[in-house]
Amino acid sequence: MKTAIVTGGAKGIGLAISKKLIADGNKVIIFDVIQEGETIASQIGAEFKKVDISNHAEVTTIAKPIDADILINNAGISIDNLLIRMKESDWDKVISVNLKGVFNCTYAVLPAMIKKRWGRIVNMSSVIGIMGNKGQTSYAASKAGIIGFTKSVAKEVASRNITCNAIAPGFISTDMTDKLPQEVKDAYIKTIPLARPGTPEEIAELVSFLISDNSSYITGQVINIDGGMVM
Ligand SMILES: NC(=O)c1ccc[n+]([C@@H]2O[C@H](COP(=O)([O-])OP(=O)(O)OC[C@H]3O[C@@H](n4cnc5c(N)ncnc54)[C@H](O)[C@@H]3O)[C@@H](O)[C@H]2O)c1
Repeated sequence: MKTAIVTGGAKGIGLAISKKLIADGNKVIIFDVIQEGETIASQIGAEFKKVDISNHAEVTTIAKPIDADILINNAGISIDNLLIRMKESDWDKVISVNLKGVFNCTYAVLPAMIKKRWGRIVNMSSVIGIMGNKGQTSYAASKAGIIGFTKSVAKEVASRNITCNAIAPGFISTDMTDKLPQEVKDAYIKTIPLARPGTPEEIAELVSFLISDNSSYITGQVINIDGGMVM
C-alpha cells in the first residue's frame, strides 16, 4: 500500500482525489485547514492533519515523518482583483499558499522519495496559468510558477524514478467556481468546446493515472483537462 499526501484534500477537487486514491488502494493523508477536515477525512477513510501549507516549519515538521510515496499538491486559493486594485497582502497570500505551499510540501517529501527511488508528484496548476485572465494576476502568476517548478523538479529527480507532472484544469464545478457570478460562469461555458463545466471526479481520474505505473514514462508535463478550452 502506498502513502499519499493530498493537500486541500477535504473539499472540491482535492476531496474527489482523496476518495479516488483510497478506492485505488492507497493510504491517504489529507493536509487542510478547514475545521470539518477531521470529520470529512474519517468519513472517507483518510487520515487528517491540520496543516497550513504556506507555513514552512509546520509542513516540514508534519510531512517529513510521513515517508510519503505520492504527493498531490492540490490546495489553492484565489483572491481576485484588477491589478491596480490589488492589495499587497492579498498578492502575498495567494503566492504563499499556491506557490510556496507547493515548494514547502515537495521539499518536505522529496528526501524520502529519493531514498526509496520511487515517487509521484502531481501539482495542480490551471489553464489560467497558461492563458492569463483579467482580475487574476496573482492566481495566474502562482499557477504559471507551478509549471516552471514542476518541470525543474522533474529534471532534478528523474534519475531517481520520481515523476513530477502538472495538471491544468479548466472550469470545474467546486466552491471555488460556484462563488463566481452567473454571467461569468456562462461566459466560461461559451469558451468550452464540450460546453459544460468539468467535475472533480474527472480530475481525480487523471491524477489516479499520473500516480500509477501506467504513466511511468510521463514526467515534466502539463496536462490540460478543460473540455477543450485551451488547445
Ligand atoms: N475549480 C476550478 O475550476 C479549478 C480550475 C483550475 C485549477 N483549480 C485548482 O484546483 C485546486 C483545488 O481547487 P478547488 O476548486 O477544489 O478549491 P476549493 O476551494 O473547493 O478547495 C481548496 C481546498 O484547499 C484548502 N486550502 C486552502 N488554503 C490552504 C492552506 N493554506 N493549507 C492547506 N489547505 C488549504 C481549502 O481549505 C480547501 O479544502 C486549487 O489549486 C485550484 O487553484 C481549480
